[in-house]
Amino acid sequence: MINAGEGLALAWRTWREAAEHALYGPGGFYRREQPAGHFRTSVHVSTLFAGAVAQLAEACRARTVVDVGAGRGELLVALRQHGIGSTLVGVDVSPRPPGLPTDVQWTAQLPDQLTDVLVIANEWLDDVPVDVVEVDAAGHARLVLVDPASGAEQLGGEPDAADVEWLARWWPLDGAAPSRRAEIGRPRDEAWADVVRRVHDGVVVAVDYYHLRADRPPFGSLTGYRDGRTVPPIPNGSCNITAHVALDACEAAGAAAGVRASLLTTQRQALRALGVDALLPPREFAVSRPREYLDAVARASQATELLDPSGLGRFGWLVQTVGRPLPAPLAAFLPPTRSP
Ligand SMILES: C[S@@+](CC[C@H](N)C(=O)[O-])C[C@H]1O[C@@H](n2cnc3c(N)ncnc32)[C@H](O)[C@@H]1O
Repeated sequence: MINAGEGLALAWRTWREAAEHALYGPGGFYRREQPAGHFRTSVHVSTLFAGAVAQLAEACRARTVVDVGAGRGELLVALRQHGIGSTLVGVDVSPRPPGLPTDVQWTAQLPDQLTDVLVIANEWLDDVPVDVVEVDAAGHARLVLVDPASGAEQLGGEPDAADVEWLARWWPLDGAAPSRRAEIGRPRDEAWADVVRRVHDGVVVAVDYYHLRADRPPFGSLTGYRDGRTVPPIPNGSCNITAHVALDACEAAGAAAGVRASLLTTQRQALRALGVDALLPPREFAVSRPREYLDAVARASQATELLDPSGLGRFGWLVQTVGRPLPAPLAAFLPPTRSP
């Protein structure tokens, strides 16, 4: 717990309020033109990621691909480069990126009544602000308040009934020692359920840093990112504020919103099922086909990063369907978490 110095006039807010304002308020971190280099996602690591999404779109026969939290539109551009013929739509609160091809649509509002659609949200949910609670000396969970200017924290009141219920179900703190923390993922569940409800027929995929009920981080995962590096999370608009996602809770929210089938797995498994592998080419190609050999070695190295079980490969893939079964490549390799 960071303590505020005595005598300072601080404007305490809950973490959700403070991050909402810092990221998405007037002049907020994401309201400005997307700052390059603040984050490096799977999309930036390799076009193999877009290739896998293109493969999934084809398996879904998606006439439209919607990228929620599309950032600077890199995934959509890479999908077009992969030759995907679907209508491409980027959804982001940030302005349309300069130079985005004119045949790529861009909107701040997720469309409604989506049919024959693949919706992908890569590293979106971790940027949906959440409240933080901390166990006090008497063993009660109290909201953590933060001063946006300095990042100083103090404990506030108890969370409201809906959040208490969420905590009991998804991140119980009964008997937890003082200073243990939890991040209340209810806004992510609601955001995800909203996506599901807008789909009439299709597949929705969230890819993100995640944890499950059995292995929540004892002190939470709230982090700041600036210029691609982790920094103390100060909600003053100078850095991104993110926290890992309780994807099991999102999965249940999606189920309650009407999904037909559901799969929660790792990026490593999902990408492998979609044909990404890190196999090196035969050594003799180095002499007989040097150009191809070098390209294949570069691809294998990028695939290694995407599949790394202690890095991006550890990300979660939540795949849910509305009005149809799981797409064949995923269903063939991986058992569904929930099925009709
Ligand atoms: C970490 S970036 C990920 C960008 C991109 N998906 C990628 O993989 O590179 C998260 C993005 O989500 C966007 N975002 C957050 N909340 C949003 C909302 N409610 N509606 C639309 N976009 C949102 C942010 O503006 C930001 O561009």
